[in-house]
Amino acid sequence: MAFNNKMVLITGASSGIGTEFARAFSKKGCKLILVARRADRLHALAAELGTPCEVLPADLSEEKEVLRIAELTKDQKVDILINCAGFGLLGAETAVDLAEELNMIDVNIRAVHILTKIFLEQMIARNSGAILNVASSAGLLPAGPYLNTYYATKAYVASFTQGLAAELEDMRRNVYVAALCPGPVNTEFTAVARGSQWDNGISAEKCVSYAMKQMEKGKRVIVPGFTVRAGLFFSRFLSKKALARFVGRFQKKKAEGR
Ligand SMILES: NC(=O)c1ccc[n+]([C@@H]2O[C@H](COP(=O)([O-])OP(=O)(O)OC[C@H]3O[C@@H](n4cnc5c(N)ncnc54)[C@H](OP(=O)(O)O)[C@@H]3O)[C@@H](O)[C@H]2O)c1
Repeated sequence: MAFNNKMVLITGASSGIGTEFARAFSKKGCKLILVARRADRLHALAAELGTPCEVLPADLSEEKEVLRIAELTKDQKVDILINCAGFGLLGAETAVDLAEELNMIDVNIRAVHILTKIFLEQMIARNSGAILNVASSAGLLPAGPYLNTYYATKAYVASFTQGLAAELEDMRRNVYVAALCPGPVNTEFTAVARGSQWDNGISAEKCVSYAMKQMEKGKRVIVPGFTVRAGLFFSRFLSKKALARFVGRFQKKKAEGR
């Protein structure tokens, strides 16, 4: 797929991976629609970028806000949707607040599902378009103790997106859908999740540049970083129980600020 001069809607554009997607698509001459809660960040990003940007602040944990974004943009012929907004919460299941977890499920799953479905319908009708759902390598693993609900939300996104990609292939539609599944990326993610920064994270810039190259090749599941790809490959040889224990030890350390 070619990116030049497209209309791109990016959720989670106020920080980290979403901000880097905005910069990368702007360099390709794309017009952008930037969505997140922090309007000041979105306006600062829009001022920095060299292509037209519309700033649409919204709290995507609220269904009516998600639908409002879809309604406001329905006549703009969005060519590319990047569902990037999301967050995690580190800690034992018994220690994590239920309301915050439900909020996470609303942002990581419900908002992604609703926006994907609405924009997919428009793209199928036009027989063109692309949707990139930012899942995580967490979503390709069986479980993630101490970042438990987050792993489950990303498993939903990875599975939902791969299923859609297969349906689209079956329908022979010219609409591309893919899941971006990074390992650790140095962004505000760990601070929001209330843990210590990843030890071996890659930069958001590297994550996005790899993602864009793989999108151009039409890849369905995109995993930036050789180490993460190798880790996922070798994880096939461990039992699900052993793998969960291994992942849990790592996430527990992060939850404890180590
Ligand atoms: N960093 C990693 O290690 C990593 C690894 C794999 C996958 N991911 C995924 O990558 C995506 C981007 O995360 P990041 O690493 O770039 O973290 P980040 O720097 O914390 O960015 C998260 C983005 O999500 C937005 N967001 C969160 N809650 C929202 C809400 N209720 N409504 C609207 N926007 C909301 C934030 O904007 P506001 O706060 O301004 O609303 C922010 O723009 C997430 O889906 C994350 O799960 C991250």
